[in-house]
Amino acid sequence: MIEWQTVAAEPAGMPAEVEERLKDPRWSFRDYVLIRQIGEGPIARVFRAWRRETGQFVALKLLRSDRVTPPMIERFVAEVRAASRLRHPNVVRIHRVGTCGGTTFLDSEFVDGESLQVRLQRGEPFAQGAALRLVMQAARAVVAAHAAGLVHGDLKPSNVLVDGSRAKVADFGMWRVREDVREANEAAADVRSLGTLLGRLLGSCGPDLGRFVREACEGRLSSGAFLDALERRLAGIEPSPAR
Ligand SMILES: Nc1ncnc2c1ncn2[C@@H]1O[C@H](COP(=O)(O)OP(=O)(O)OP(=O)(O)O)[C@@H](O)[C@H]1O
Ligand SMILES: [Mg+2]
Repeated sequence: MIEWQTVAAEPAGMPAEVEERLKDPRWSFRDYVLIRQIGEGPIARVFRAWRRETGQFVALKLLRSDRVTPPMIERFVAEVRAASRLRHPNVVRIHRVGTCGGTTFLDSEFVDGESLQVRLQRGEPFAQGAALRLVMQAARAVVAAHAAGLVHGDLKPSNVLVDGSRAKVADFGMWRVREDVREANEAAADVRSLGTLLGRLLGSCGPDLGRFVREACEGRLSSGAFLDALERRLAGIEPSPAR
């Protein structure tokens, strides 16, 4: 018992990559240690970071102060707060949002993988089963969001992150923050995006996939009906229960 207490009281070892960064204060932000930049979007940079308080690696999005205005920041914080209610295995989990020293940040689950954008850019073809499974997972996230009264609004390959074979959707509601994104704020737009996403992964929206993809792309299906059709399609090509 005493031995257990002694071991538990010792600080957990710090990963070497964190120790290295701690030597240079430019890699520190609030209670985070920035490890490396993992991405860059139109209004933000995303870092893999270590949160000292929890000893966890997270994805830290730092808004670029030269690209955002105070109203955008206000909308960003409001959207992130709304989206943080969503807890789902296919949704990137939001930890917290805030502003420090004039920089607005979003701390979320670090997805150890790559975005579908990166996968598409590599040009490797997707097998039909793999594409259906990835889009099905994104569709599950969208169905859960719609049931909670949230829409994504900007469902594109860079916002679908893949860790192994699990897809996780990031940036729910973020389209509202940007003044240059004009996607409609409606559930049908998410279904259109899912149909388009499937078409991009498979290189076509060909008739062999079924009418449902065309109907989705035309905004004529609900997210639930699209998910059902995907599941039926996957069962058709992979009849075994192992999926
Ligand atoms: N939680 C995360 N875990 C791992 N990588 C992430 C995470 N969030 C974002 N990224 C990476 O950072 C990149 C940039 O993300 P960011 O959201 O800033 O830009 P974007 O998706 O291209 O544009 P938008 O601002 O319109 O969403 C993503 O494409 C992805 O590769
Ligand atoms: Mg994004």
